[in-house]
Amino acid sequence: MPQLLYIETFGCQMNERDSEIMAQLLGEHSYVQTNKPEQADVVVVNTCSIRGKAAHKAYSCFGRYKKLKGKGHDFILAVTGCVAQQDGAALLERMPYIDIVMGPQSIYTLPSLVAAFRRDRKSLVATELSADFVIPPFLPNLAEGPAHKRFITIMQGCDNFCTYCVVPYTRGREISRSFGDILAEATHLVRQGVKEITLIGQNVNSYGQKGCDTKQNQGFPELLRAVAGIDGLQRLRFTSSHPKDLSEELMRCFAEIPVLCPHFHLPVQSGSNSILQRMNRKYTIEAYLDKAARLREYRPDIALTTDIIVGFPGETDDDFAATMQVMETVQYHGAYSFKYSDRPNAKAADFPDKVAETVKTERLARLQARQEEIALALKQADIGKTVEVMVEGASKSPANQWSGRTGGNQIVNFSCEAKLVPGQLLMVEIESACQNSLRGKML
Ligand code: SAH
Ligand code: SF4
Ligand code: F3S
Repeated sequence: MPQLLYIETFGCQMNERDSEIMAQLLGEHSYVQTNKPEQADVVVVNTCSIRGKAAHKAYSCFGRYKKLKGKGHDFILAVTGCVAQQDGAALLERMPYIDIVMGPQSIYTLPSLVAAFRRDRKSLVATELSADFVIPPFLPNLAEGPAHKRFITIMQGCDNFCTYCVVPYTRGREISRSFGDILAEATHLVRQGVKEITLIGQNVNSYGQKGCDTKQNQGFPELLRAVAGIDGLQRLRFTSSHPKDLSEELMRCFAEIPVLCPHFHLPVQSGSNSILQRMNRKYTIEAYLDKAARLREYRPDIALTTDIIVGFPGETDDDFAATMQVMETVQYHGAYSFKYSDRPNAKAADFPDKVAETVKTERLARLQARQEEIALALKQADIGKTVEVMVEGASKSPANQWSGRTGGNQIVNFSCEAKLVPGQLLMVEIESACQNSLRGKML
């Protein structure tokens, strides 16, 4: 009888990829994934701590599993991700019904932790965070999840210490994976039919600088060129980037690598230089805008997206107006925007002049309303254009409705009587636009 595994994942793509890895590792020990937590023998909760809200989500999720255990279900509850790293053993003290607490560096030991818990019935904590950690080589199987697109983690941790951010404390020092391991993983995926790869890390632009065996000339642009060269790969993406590390050489890749998708996620955080300085972002807004403009010179159709924090400590009306101005200047296809929240260990938690919640709420609403208008206008400007779309899948209803994505990462819905395959590339003429998607006619 196989054992059943249920994984609940919060947070970023790094967590999503880690969850796939844990599923595969336990799969090698006869565990099969279930979508019913009440039937699981092992439940893994992969948590995120980026904002106060994210951490609360994790804690309330633990509460649900406490109730399930209270109803007499016998399962092992393992908690990983950034809340596990941040709270460590304290989590077990507060929530003794948790059986295993492991930091993101310890996920590779999950099968042995589960076996040890089964044997001894004693709770375990594995939250070592070493700067010498080496991400092990790992060849993914495609049994679970989409077969046509995959993430590859190319680095972990972050050394930037933006003053609002918890990541340098929960994921530790920046460590790049070996160039050869990444290339082997990408080649393995493409040979199995994967069409689109996204290279992920907290700050991929500085790939190759720390903690791996890469040589000179094996930085991020070289990695992109090497992965792009794998025969059969149709689309290459990456995220996330730090503007200070966006080099001319990386920009040039957008003009020279045909499979590199015309989309760049370039988090700006704020439009005000005094706020950027207090955030420790290490760029000025002028330098940021210059890079955004240069990217468009290399690739005029590039879609830019961003992250913005409103209500950072000390943010004045003028600072916020500067952020609104950046949105007008850049014209983002999309923006993830958040109210600032204090995070454990992050320096800004001790900064004075915290912005009132009501002010943050009002600023966020104004920013999001304007961003929606900008995004819709950009979509409307696509009407009449013919775009290349990668098929994602069929809509549940009505029949014969399909959806896919453009290189710029826009969702496109269209009709087709024939059966399509996810990962297939098609040409679609855009006929209409709404807030979150485009609609078109297959050519
Ligand atoms: N490494 C990525 C960011 C990952 S976190 C990068 O630098 O781009 C994703 C986003 O969460 C950040 O870009 C930031 O906008 C937001 N964020 C991080 N800490 C936050 C905090 N304390 N309060 C509000 N938003 C925060
Ligand atoms: Fe956090 Fe800044 Fe690192 Fe991004 S670059 S993970 S925002 S510290
Ligand atoms: Fe969240 Fe940790 Fe990722 S805080 S965003 S899960 S690195």
